[in-house]
Amino acid sequence: MAEAFGNYVGGRFLPAASGRAFENRNPADASDLVGRFADSAADDVAAAVAAARQAFPAWKRTPAPKRGEILYRAAEILVRRKEDFARDMTREMGKVLAETRGDVQEAIDMTYYMAGEGRRQFGHTTPSELRDKFQMSVRMPVGVAGLVTPWNFPMAIPSWKAMPALVLGNTVVLKAAPDTPLSSLNLVRVLEEAGLPPGVLNLVTGGAEAGAALVGHPDVAIVSFTGSTATGRKVSETAARAFKHCHLEMGGKNVIMVMEDADLDLAVDGAVWGGFGTSGQRCTAASRVVVHASVYEAFARRFVERAQKLRIGNGLDPATEMGPVINETQLRKTESYVAIGKQEGATLLCGGRRCSEGDLARGCFFEPTVFGAVTPAMRIAREEIFGPVVSLIPVGSLEEAIEVGNATDYGLSASIYTRDISKAFRAMQEMFTGIFYVNAPTIGAETHLPFGGTKGTGNGHREACVQALEVFSEWKSIYVDFSGGLQRAQID
Ligand code: UN1
Repeated sequence: MAEAFGNYVGGRFLPAASGRAFENRNPADASDLVGRFADSAADDVAAAVAAARQAFPAWKRTPAPKRGEILYRAAEILVRRKEDFARDMTREMGKVLAETRGDVQEAIDMTYYMAGEGRRQFGHTTPSELRDKFQMSVRMPVGVAGLVTPWNFPMAIPSWKAMPALVLGNTVVLKAAPDTPLSSLNLVRVLEEAGLPPGVLNLVTGGAEAGAALVGHPDVAIVSFTGSTATGRKVSETAARAFKHCHLEMGGKNVIMVMEDADLDLAVDGAVWGGFGTSGQRCTAASRVVVHASVYEAFARRFVERAQKLRIGNGLDPATEMGPVINETQLRKTESYVAIGKQEGATLLCGGRRCSEGDLARGCFFEPTVFGAVTPAMRIAREEIFGPVVSLIPVGSLEEAIEVGNATDYGLSASIYTRDISKAFRAMQEMFTGIFYVNAPTIGAETHLPFGGTKGTGNGHREACVQALEVFSEWKSIYVDFSGGLQRAQID
């Protein structure tokens, strides 16, 4: 009998009010049941929001450096348990151990970073235009933050949202992705152990029903969502009606541009890691590689060779280089894009099928897939697949590479491989993406620079770094007139 896990509401673990639960299975082996989790509905969400609302006044009054200290303790616990949490994560979502360790590390980095914000949260002082008048700006917490998080970075992304929210004095309801509730639960338990008071951080598990209830709840003042563009649009519309703070982090169709003077070995390494790391299931994944025609054949040959050699398997096996995709739905979606690519006239250079031999038949494994001779208008060059499928697009110049690179509805990450500094700076200047790399793939963002994208990827906000504080706070400008008389701004 697999363990049953409840929601975490007001410091207590509770089953869903309906008694419903859903199964969390290992995508590398469908017979491995990780656990049963509460399948939450609107009433469960309402209970969590009520607990967060009740906890808000006391948490808001807790000095920010004290809030930061709890986060420091949480970071220390994460460091100690990193290996266990990485193993749980690989078991529930499949990516290889090296990557799940990286995921926990990203949560550690963010937790330390935001703990430090306990003693910063800087505002401004600035001279007044009038005598004997002092002025400053300070940040205020907003209230209850509703966080809706995805399965591909199940500890990192919840921490990107929860840590800034908490250190600023907000309280939180986290709705974990249904494929990865255990990793979110692990994070919540760490914060409980670190001394976070009951109700300050609450967790509900479940699917779209719970997510929609959270986003739409009138007592949720901030919504932060990472997921698909289609769901993001609905979140945005719901939040807009109530003028909620709304942060969205959505799809990507990121590009690596390989110029004629690139170090091809380095570019191949980058494209393999960027395209097939996390089985292509990163919003930053390099799903397009735009290659200068003069090196296209050489690049394609080496890239395909490397893709075919990737060792696919259970991520817990240290020899594995690429794990499964998250579930059957995602596998079928990937399959359907392979069919679309073929139909559109792209050349399937390798992969394209589900892996059904030996142990792999027990999980959701898909071959690393490369399409060649892709044109920018094809759907496989425009739509986010979120699987191990990379499209190679030949171009004739840097200008064309930039044009093709920018020709998507998304704007998360882009990169260029070149030894020519002018080309690197030209691309850096012209690519309209939130993240840009030189001689590195499109993945690998660190927690102390802003993370997010333009166009269909986001709605103008950023996670991580100090920029994350904007989503989770309001500014108050304070004027103190100690002149003893009435002074009229803009008049006296
Ligand atoms: C995501 O795919 O949603 O830059 C996040 C990266 C990671 C974060 C990815 N640090 O690829």
